[in-house]
Amino acid sequence: MKAVILVGGEGTRLRPLTCNIPKAIVPVLNRPFLEHQLLYLRRHGVTDVILAMGYLPDPVRECLGNGSQLGVKLTYLVESSPMGTAGAVKNAGQLLDGPFLVLNGDIITGIDLSAMIAQHRDSGARVSIALTPVDNPTVFGVVETDGQGRVRRFLEKPGWDQVTTNLINAGIYMLEPEVLGMVPPSTRSMFERDVFPALVEAGDPVFAFPSDAYWIDIGTPEKYLQAHRDLLQGWGGEVRMDGKSQVHPSARIEGPALIGEGCIIGRDVRIKGAVIGPCCRVGEGARLEEAVLWRGVQVAEGALLSNCVAGDAASIGCGCHVPPGCIIGDGVRIEPESRLERGYRLWPDGWQGI
Ligand code: GTP
Repeated sequence: MKAVILVGGEGTRLRPLTCNIPKAIVPVLNRPFLEHQLLYLRRHGVTDVILAMGYLPDPVRECLGNGSQLGVKLTYLVESSPMGTAGAVKNAGQLLDGPFLVLNGDIITGIDLSAMIAQHRDSGARVSIALTPVDNPTVFGVVETDGQGRVRRFLEKPGWDQVTTNLINAGIYMLEPEVLGMVPPSTRSMFERDVFPALVEAGDPVFAFPSDAYWIDIGTPEKYLQAHRDLLQGWGGEVRMDGKSQVHPSARIEGPALIGEGCIIGRDVRIKGAVIGPCCRVGEGARLEEAVLWRGVQVAEGALLSNCVAGDAASIGCGCHVPPGCIIGDGVRIEPESRLERGYRLWPDGWQGI
């Protein structure tokens, strides 16, 4: 069984975290995001993986190589311009001979892939789509099914009076290879908008695989932080260290928390529910609550960071307050005693955009 992971998007909603690297390798618990997804696939016996890339492919290759360290085999394909979810898989068509999986490259989930694969085979489906429940279906595309689990209709952002289900597309599909025959070559097209509705319309067997297992996409800073909180919650009160770090004896670290290798944590520092990347330095009396620091972040004395993200080599001056929802881009320096507003996003210096 092969899988295609869609990692070609620009991740615009997650900026400035995706200014220098694609969403696929933003660190989650100090590991490139895709490592989590590849290990998930491996747990379900899927080890032959095609990465459909577009935006900033080189850092992904440098980071994951041929996949052997994770026990998977990676094949890289790069689109010269974004082909959309279906166009990107069509582009990989020559490598896909049997039924295969497709995953959005930004989801963390416990959906039982093995059960989905088994159901796909038993049902004779041409396409199977994993579905996940949401609280507010009016801001998503919902997927309606009949009593037998067959997909009847796709409904984009229904009004509350039209809502018949709270199940949305979870971004995991299993496809028979002949479906790619319906996708026009060298053209941008989307499974969820162009291909699947046409199959349903034509009466082809498209089945749902609803699951209430954990599911989140890390497409926005809020969800990125939420994913960290959710994953850490599973650790109970544990404090994990990725390697050797210097922690001053007076520092108080309350689990769950993760500290990367080579960090220096100063006197009277307070840490709670935070993830600290490798080679960070946290100065005397600083407080980190549910903050996520990437590699080499410098937090000066007395700074307070809560429920925020600081990118690689960002530096937070003495006594700064960084409130919830703030996203500090790579290399950004926050002046001493600064008071940021909630939800501020600070772009890396000189970033021109695309
Ligand atoms: P935003 O710009 O924030 O909307 O993010 P995105 O476009 O990166 O992600 P979106 O949630 O829209 O797409 C879901 C998944 O499909 C992500 O993992 C994207 O990387 C991937 N994706 C979206 N468009 C393309 C594309 O044209 N080609 C490829 N290969 N992947 C794509």
